[in-house]
Amino acid sequence: MVPWWYTAGSTLLLSLGAAAWDYSTYNSIDFQPPKLVVNKTGTTEPGFLFLGPRGDVRPAGQAALIYDDEGNLVYEGPEEVTANFMVQQLNGSDVITFWAGDMMDLGYGYGSVHILDNTYQEIHTVTLTGDFVTPDNSPRDSYIDLHESHITPRNTLLVTAYNLTQHDLTSIGGNSSDWMLDSHFYEIDIVTNKILNSWSALEQEADIPLTTSHQKVGKDVGTQDAPYDAYHINAITPTNNGYLVSLRHMWSGYYLHNNGSIIWRVSGEDGGDFKQIGNANFSWQHDMRVFNETDEGLILNLFNNANTPTDSETPTTGVSLAIDLAKKTVTGLRSLTDPNDPIHSVSQGSYQLLNETDSHVFMDYGSISKVKEFDGDGNVVLSAQFGEDNSVASYRGYRCQWSAVPFWKPSVNVSRTSTGATVYMSWNGATDYDNWVVYSATSENSTNNQQISTANRTGFETSVTLTNPPTNYLQVAALEGNKVLGTSQVIPF
Ligand SMILES: *[C@@H]1O[C@H](CO)[C@@H](O)[C@H](O)[C@H]1NC(C)=O
Ligand SMILES: *[C@@H]1O[C@H](CO)[C@@H](O)[C@H](O)[C@H]1NC(C)=O
Ligand SMILES: *[C@@H]1O[C@H](CO)[C@@H](O)[C@H](O)[C@H]1NC(C)=O
Ligand SMILES: *[C@@H]1O[C@H](CO)[C@@H](O)[C@H](O)[C@H]1NC(C)=O
Ligand SMILES: *[C@@H]1O[C@H](CO)[C@@H](O)[C@H](O)[C@H]1NC(C)=O
Ligand SMILES: *[C@@H]1O[C@H](CO)[C@@H](O)[C@H](O)[C@H]1NC(C)=O
Ligand SMILES: *[C@@H]1O[C@H](CO)[C@@H](O)[C@H](O)[C@H]1NC(C)=O
Ligand SMILES: *[C@@H]1O[C@H](CO)[C@@H](O)[C@H](O)[C@H]1NC(C)=O
Ligand SMILES: *[C@@H]1O[C@H](CO)[C@@H](O)[C@H](O)[C@H]1NC(C)=O
Ligand SMILES: *[C@@H]1O[C@H](CO)[C@@H](O)[C@H](O)[C@H]1NC(C)=O
Ligand SMILES: *[C@@H]1O[C@H](CO)[C@@H](O)[C@H](O)[C@H]1NC(C)=O
Repeated sequence: MVPWWYTAGSTLLLSLGAAAWDYSTYNSIDFQPPKLVVNKTGTTEPGFLFLGPRGDVRPAGQAALIYDDEGNLVYEGPEEVTANFMVQQLNGSDVITFWAGDMMDLGYGYGSVHILDNTYQEIHTVTLTGDFVTPDNSPRDSYIDLHESHITPRNTLLVTAYNLTQHDLTSIGGNSSDWMLDSHFYEIDIVTNKILNSWSALEQEADIPLTTSHQKVGKDVGTQDAPYDAYHINAITPTNNGYLVSLRHMWSGYYLHNNGSIIWRVSGEDGGDFKQIGNANFSWQHDMRVFNETDEGLILNLFNNANTPTDSETPTTGVSLAIDLAKKTVTGLRSLTDPNDPIHSVSQGSYQLLNETDSHVFMDYGSISKVKEFDGDGNVVLSAQFGEDNSVASYRGYRCQWSAVPFWKPSVNVSRTSTGATVYMSWNGATDYDNWVVYSATSENSTNNQQISTANRTGFETSVTLTNPPTNYLQVAALEGNKVLGTSQVIPF
């Protein structure tokens, strides 16, 4: 009998044996995010850590999450399954973007992409509709898959989608009208949701033969319930001439003309259209990204899983490759791995070049709930963990600089003590305040309130104890230096 995840393709969603991982709780707000255990061993780049844990986490902790380098929570979004939570630029401004929706056991999803400004107001919700076929024929509000949510320099969004179709799979040991997943991508206008460009891997069958797939047609695969996942699209980057698409199950990246035709292919197995120099191998990859593109060549960075649930050999690495179009070569430049902690990530993951000058790289290990930052010499400067291996996953993870003043007020809660009260204060998502002031108030609507205590910020939640507070109402304010950034409601206690 094949294990359940064999037919499920490549995304390990939940653990078989649930394992407990500690979570945080707060008095001022009902959040239960997983604890982020941080081991910082060097100088890191500036920014916060952006994660989207799911699986064996508390419901009140399965959300888009931001942490700082000390492991303090900074922001928790609504309870939902998310992917690709990060900061991007839209029209010259920093925005946060993430996918949210339903994840299928087959390792893809149906959802939409949310774009929030630096007050956390949702300014755009990008959706995709069309005549998509689903495993149970049920229609969905939006067919955007979880794997990519990339804003282009032209302020459009690149997303993936999976469509079910019947196809002749006899060339690879299947049946003549088996069900398979076609891998699509779309470029969408963010304001109108209009489709500007689209692409289907199956339409390129002459240039992407099914026989090159490393995903085999398993025994119980080929039905509408369990379609064959030939390609598994998982990343798209805009390039000077069109796009670069990563197809995980082909161990390949495809450089596409704007019209969808394939110009060249780089393969992690044998180089594809290029001769391999040094170690230029990769397999079952994620997050393939293009840098420094010229007419002569480009740099390709990717998360080299090198593992699947059925194929676990060498450790996962972060890979950087140089492609030379004149010499027709692909040269291995970097291969990042932590010698103290070799990881076998069977699904998901990301590789983020943080800084082109010092070459720091941030990696999220997908099905293994760990992130690591490497310096320019390939040394680990930070490792952090937020769940048991293969029980909590974050599809991708990023370090991003982010400054936000939420549109909501700070939260406050008070518990009485024998001599007074303890005040708990937090302001979800606020990045810049560093101290609190506590005021006593005479009524819920009083405005001329009297300062009775102050405290420096201590992580997500700060508490102060009050002895014999003068009234039974209080209010708190969050400040940066002496500038008030936000004020809570007056609350009775
Ligand atoms: C406020 O504190 C009380 C107990 O002191 C608790 O029952 C309540 O859930 C807290 N409210 C929030 C929003 O956490
Ligand atoms: C922290 O990281 C260093 C360097 O990778 C390693 O030697 C050490 O064992 C780690 N400590 C813990 C507690 O994981
Ligand atoms: C970008 O800014 C222009 C000019 O203000 C505006 O018309 C356009 O809608 C904006 N695009 C997005 C995606 O916000
Ligand atoms: C999905 O595949 C079906 C065939 O199964 C096809 O009729 C439909 O047009 C495809 N949808 C899209 C959006 O390409
Ligand atoms: C494929 O065809 C064979 C022979 O006709 C049949 O036994 C098998 O059930 C088919 N498989 C699927 C998944 O339809
Ligand atoms: C796409 O453009 C390339 C280069 O102009 C051309 O060779 C190719 O035939 C075009 N493909 C399609 C499908 O139009
Ligand atoms: C790259 O992969 C190929 C095919 O699996 C293998 O023959 C070769 O030894 C690998 N090269 C390196 C440098 O690991
Ligand atoms: C990209 O180009 C810049 C400028 O030429 C250079 O400093 C940088 O090292 C290059 N990055 C890579 C990864 O080659
Ligand atoms: C990148 O690293 C260099 C060298 O440490 C530093 O001077 C520069 O400020 C960094 N750039 C950014 C954008 O952080
Ligand atoms: C406070 O103001 C609200 C609405 O402005 C009002 O309904 C309420 O009665 C006021 N409470 C007191 C104690 O004045
Ligand atoms: C708060 O922080 C400032 C500067 O970081 C420090 O000078 C001050 O003593 C701190 N106050 C308290 C009450 O800890």
